Amino acid sequence: MCGIVGYVGGRDAVEILLNGLKRMEYRGYDSAGLATLRAGKLAQVKNTGKVQALADRVFREWSEEFREGMHIGIAHTRWATHGAPTDANAHPHLDKAGKIALVHNGIIENYAGLRKMLEAKGHVFLSETDSEVLAQLIGALYQGDLLQAVSAALLQVEGTFGIAVLDEAHPELLVAARRGSPLLIGLGEGESIIASDAAAVVSHTRNVIYLDDDDIAEVRAGTADIRNLHNVPVNRAVSHLDWDSGAAEKGGYEHFMLKEIFEQPDAMRNCLRGRLDDTLHTSVLTGLGLEPRDMAAIQRIVLVACGTSLHAAMVGKYFIEELAGIPVETEQAAEFRYRNPILGPHDLVLAISQSGETADTLAAVREAKCKGTLVAGMCNVVASTIARETGCGIYLHAGPEIGVASTKAFTCQVTALFLLALKLGRGRRLSRQQGAGLVATAKALPELVAATLKLNDKVAAVAETLASCRDCFYIGRGILHPVALEGALKIKEISYIHAEGYHAAELKHGPIALLEAAVPVVALAADVPGKDKMVSNIQECRARGAPVIAVVSEGDEATLTSLRPIVQAIIELPKAPLHAVPVLCVVALQLLAYHAARLRGCPIDQPRNLAKSVTVE
Ligand code: AGP
Repeated sequence: MCGIVGYVGGRDAVEILLNGLKRMEYRGYDSAGLATLRAGKLAQVKNTGKVQALADRVFREWSEEFREGMHIGIAHTRWATHGAPTDANAHPHLDKAGKIALVHNGIIENYAGLRKMLEAKGHVFLSETDSEVLAQLIGALYQGDLLQAVSAALLQVEGTFGIAVLDEAHPELLVAARRGSPLLIGLGEGESIIASDAAAVVSHTRNVIYLDDDDIAEVRAGTADIRNLHNVPVNRAVSHLDWDSGAAEKGGYEHFMLKEIFEQPDAMRNCLRGRLDDTLHTSVLTGLGLEPRDMAAIQRIVLVACGTSLHAAMVGKYFIEELAGIPVETEQAAEFRYRNPILGPHDLVLAISQSGETADTLAAVREAKCKGTLVAGMCNVVASTIARETGCGIYLHAGPEIGVASTKAFTCQVTALFLLALKLGRGRRLSRQQGAGLVATAKALPELVAATLKLNDKVAAVAETLASCRDCFYIGRGILHPVALEGALKIKEISYIHAEGYHAAELKHGPIALLEAAVPVVALAADVPGKDKMVSNIQECRARGAPVIAVVSEGDEATLTSLRPIVQAIIELPKAPLHAVPVLCVVALQLLAYHAARLRGCPIDQPRNLAKSVTVE
């Protein structure tokens, strides 16, 4: 996601801003920029590409003498959400008069209406972004008091923001505000630093104030005056950062993968934001660019992907077939691209890819397009190749995923597929009442995942059983079969344990020959159809001496009573609606894989032989 840095004090603002951006590069971004004041006038540089490219340009275009006296500024790394990565879309953005600069992290949901209103007043926009709309709105409301103008603008905004604002008329003042996107203020000796991440602050000061939602602050050198958006002073405690700067890049987590596992509630909130309709009890997927009639004409869906994304597709198949009654095929992209697939005008091919750059999935997109069928993308990286070549689809908005092992992207893919199933279903036989129940399930997902994450210590203890084994099985039925495959992939790729994911009913057709005391089985017996059969599958495994780790739903006393005497460990997931169970299950398996790999001392974020995006065949 985007990174924000602001500085006001006695030192070289440009240097501090650039170093701050560098400390946040790990978050992933596609463009960067900064704005400062020189002799009372705004000066800015921004472009697509890396922070180093921005720094090279700044030091090339702004001599040391030119940079004299630059003691205030704001800077930004952009993770594109609205509009492709271009120089014009990079932050900062200016108001109409070009005297106020803003950097923004978050999503302004009602930006289109605000932009229309401002255009009617003669405002001209230079970018496609929602952030520029906010900058111009602030300028339109500005009558000399920057805090008042920013507050008035934010009271008109729906969505999330973390912002820092700079105004030519106030060379000693920055205004910061947040709702939904983290923002903190570091208070140093005669200087202040605003940032979206402690990583940009901790090398300057450890005394920080974390803003709460709808806080707005006037930040001057060494001080911060904080109010709410209705101009009522609020009191925020000063915290002391106890991170070293290296750890701060991972938000205090030991690995990016663990950070991203724990980011999942927020990632899912971002994925769901603006996509649930409480009136028609359906989902809103405008990025598909399909009218209800187009959606109703779809007679088959082909989900094409690789790896973890293919497992998400397999979960999505269950959702869509159950809720929309449309046949769904899931295809491994490398196979799809070469087998001359049979596609027609009433098919929808949905390419699922976190990176949007996977070579096999991209080739599958091109093959499907040449067959003249409808092709869409489900990507996390805005304006990635698959996103651009499909031209329509569903962005995950999960934020950049740095760990090679995909975690939050998977749960957001499953969430987005649930939204698609809801949309297609409500366009067919799903009633308003059924839709309302499914919307409620979607809304409950982030909190249910947060509750599942509380199992971390318990799962870490259970992981000891797996950490010492060489081979293991993951088994599941129905919608938990692809979850078993994903759990096996997670532990394989980061701990190098040979884990096989299998349909539980398949074991007796051969693989059960491998079971013995040294080969544990992770059995997914959570509360979905087929869980009763899982109990007998677990008994089969135990009869061969294999230790079993069972994943069960809280409150399922019948299953718990049957399993407690025979299994080695039980992981109890929070009680949840049916369609949430696969997501909670996979979160527990992500933690299981993580702790097994940690216990084995593996390089979790960068597993051997693996790349984050497989851009080769
Ligand atoms: C998952 O943990 C792996 N990193 C890998 O299977 C990945 O899901 C696969 O390469 C597909 O990547 P994509 O989603 O970016 O297309």
